[in-house]
Amino acid sequence: MDGSTQVHVRNHDLLADALAGLTADEKTLGPKWLYDHRGSALFEKITRLPEYYPTRTEAGILHDNAAALAGLVPSAGALVELGSGASVKTRTLLDAGGHIGAYVPIDISRDFLLETAAALKNAYPALDVVPVVADFTAPVTLPDALAALPKAAFFPGSTIGNLTPARAQALLSGVRAWPGIEAFILGADMVKDISQLIAAYDDAQGVTAEFISNILVRLNRETGADFDLNAFDYKATWNADLARIDMHLVSNRSQQVTVGERTIPFYAGEPIHVSAARKYTTNSLTALANSTGWDLHDCHTDANGRFSVAVLRPGG
Ligand code: AVJ
Repeated sequence: MDGSTQVHVRNHDLLADALAGLTADEKTLGPKWLYDHRGSALFEKITRLPEYYPTRTEAGILHDNAAALAGLVPSAGALVELGSGASVKTRTLLDAGGHIGAYVPIDISRDFLLETAAALKNAYPALDVVPVVADFTAPVTLPDALAALPKAAFFPGSTIGNLTPARAQALLSGVRAWPGIEAFILGADMVKDISQLIAAYDDAQGVTAEFISNILVRLNRETGADFDLNAFDYKATWNADLARIDMHLVSNRSQQVTVGERTIPFYAGEPIHVSAARKYTTNSLTALANSTGWDLHDCHTDANGRFSVAVLRPGG
């Protein structure tokens, strides 16, 4: 041996989830496993790619409409963000919202969340920053102290597009049921010409391919699986019926892969579905809102209509 030792930290949640997905008729792996340290860094790199327009387009919309959007948060009320990450976009709203009493970032990544919360407390001394460690894809219960506060929810980044329609509806209904909720600010990427969409999810530098393949890297490192990374090619396709981009890893030959105690067969050309990015129209956003107790009150878009920051208000 050359002295380097391969250490397998057994990640049982990842293994169980991967085995369930890889033994199904149509093989899947979940997008939530993409975001380890390396995956988060790769996604950051994606947001700066020339082809990946959503991040900078949404940032522009937030900037151009900051006062109106911040004004949706009631005076001395709370801004509650789902999947807050580094809260970069939120600062645009906080900067324009001196009247905001509390900021409640919700994120699954505990250490990162607490670091971000501490940084925000420093930057906005008058603001009450109340981090909540939770998975926003499951129903979120807010701490009692926040129940009485009037509030607005913020879910940027078109992360909603990662959820199945049923889960997206569950999320919007769940937030609608929060006490004191007055508005939902929702970032959604819009249907547009296919070449722009495909380019955004299959960039020339191959960063997206690396990002999606990171799930195999993790399976090898964290569960001891033996995926040959050269035996899988990245492929992004547009599904017009479901209005979504599908991100796949395609086996480029017939092969067997060992995952946990199982041997997983692949035929040449067999895809693993890793992630989907749903795109919206004003009509589909309205339908989503109306089916979950909201009205589409406003829709802020960029000059090219690529991305929308939708404002939902409790509906009748
Ligand atoms: C972070 C879920 C919004 O779907 O556009 C980007 C993730 N995946 N390129 C998206 C992603 C591949 C991204 N979201």
